[in-house]
Amino acid sequence: MAHITWDNTFSIGVEEIDAQHKIWIDTINDLHDALYHSSSENLTAKTNKAVEAMWEYTRFHFQTEETYMKSINYPDLTSHQAIHDMFSLEVMNIYNDIKEGKQVLSTSVMKMLTNWLKEHILQEDKKIGLYLSR
Ligand SMILES: [Fe+2]
Ligand SMILES: [Fe+2]
Repeated sequence: MAHITWDNTFSIGVEEIDAQHKIWIDTINDLHDALYHSSSENLTAKTNKAVEAMWEYTRFHFQTEETYMKSINYPDLTSHQAIHDMFSLEVMNIYNDIKEGKQVLSTSVMKMLTNWLKEHILQEDKKIGLYLSR
């Protein structure tokens, strides 16, 4: 499992959203570093902090994106929002479990988060850009 590297294939053509996606990708890369490059005594503290940062940025980003979709009367707002809600719930559960010590961040969870983020930008968020350029 490697870092996500931003390139133009991720661009949806909306400056504010693209800028946030770059930061969002940074938060998942930080989580990756916390999981794979922390010393054993720092691992829990570092992954907890990184998962919290990732969770907070996810919420903030979804809010911005949903406000933006409303502002352009995006026709698929409801289904896009539902996808955000489902992922938010998943990340919130992971965050709470990790915070309460019920679960540690695993490679499979890390993979799921990384793949979800990539696929969501490339498939769902890209449609916003396509709608604008129609
Ligand atoms: Fe989205
Ligand atoms: Fe997005």
